[in-house]
Amino acid sequence: MSGEPIPPGSLPLAARAPGKCILFGEHAVVHGRPELVLAIDLPVQVGVQSAVRSSLNRDFEATERHPYFRAALKQLWADGPPIEVRVQSRVPRAAGLGSSAAFSAALAATLSSARGGISRAGLAERAFAVERAAQGVGSPGDTAASVAGGYVSLNGPGGEVLSEYTDGNQSWTARRVHDPSWSWVVAYSGLPRSTADAVRAVGERLKRSDGPELLDRFARVAESGIRAVVAEDREAVGTLLDENQLLLAEVGVSHPQLEKLLRAARPTILGGKLTGAGAGGSVVVLPLPGRELDAARRMARAGGLPFVVRPESEGASLVARPVEPAAPTDE
Ligand code: MEV
Repeated sequence: MSGEPIPPGSLPLAARAPGKCILFGEHAVVHGRPELVLAIDLPVQVGVQSAVRSSLNRDFEATERHPYFRAALKQLWADGPPIEVRVQSRVPRAAGLGSSAAFSAALAATLSSARGGISRAGLAERAFAVERAAQGVGSPGDTAASVAGGYVSLNGPGGEVLSEYTDGNQSWTARRVHDPSWSWVVAYSGLPRSTADAVRAVGERLKRSDGPELLDRFARVAESGIRAVVAEDREAVGTLLDENQLLLAEVGVSHPQLEKLLRAARPTILGGKLTGAGAGGSVVVLPLPGRELDAARRMARAGGLPFVVRPESEGASLVARPVEPAAPTDE
């Protein structure tokens, strides 16, 4: 398992981690099936320094109110002194683009550095532990990609092993997948959604008699999708994105606004699907070569908030300059 470790450091520290979009296999990955996740160039940055009382963006109740902050402090900073955490994010929240995974990965990187440093695989485990504790359900796909950067498969074809996980009777292996150097377009529908609710609803749907067969179909599409990305076969990837979208609609997590965005982009893309938990959130499309901006414009006109995204190859890392210390207040 490779990747630069997170070196030891002392507060104040800052770290950055990328958001993500899922290209194939969301939901089915929770049940151990293959997934392909891409870390994208929309980062979350956190700055951490010692303080008299712990806070998140000057919210002193955040340890009560913010489940990811609470989970990170409990899991990674037990008995640690109070800390002030500042977050700056380019990832819209609750949009299916990995804001919570990137926050968990970046915060875990700073806290792990302050506690003596950690290997990259260890950081991936810690970021997943934070997300899992905060969310109660889910797979390590989002945090694995945010920590490793680039294209990452879970339980699917791929090269080098990046990290491994076991949770109850489920296990996952994250592997590096070849980057074909494509641009993608994601678009947020403006409808926030809860990952945990969507994961539970799909879990219920999969208990019906056709559940195992549905999971097999998800697995076949994701495996073929990963192989098509590795082969740099854009046409095949487009077709498989569309097939994956039909399966996601079948398990009940598409939404009329997501379908509208996909329809609007259609003349400029090879294929597309919702990305993340669905039931709102975002879509991802693979544009025809050179049509990225056309696809983005069409989805903006249909009411979406589009981003042309590229892979972020670096993954979670410490950044040299901590964010500005907070201005003094009367508190
Ligand atoms: C959420 O980004 C992806 C899901 O598959 C849940 C998970 O894997 O944790 C829906």
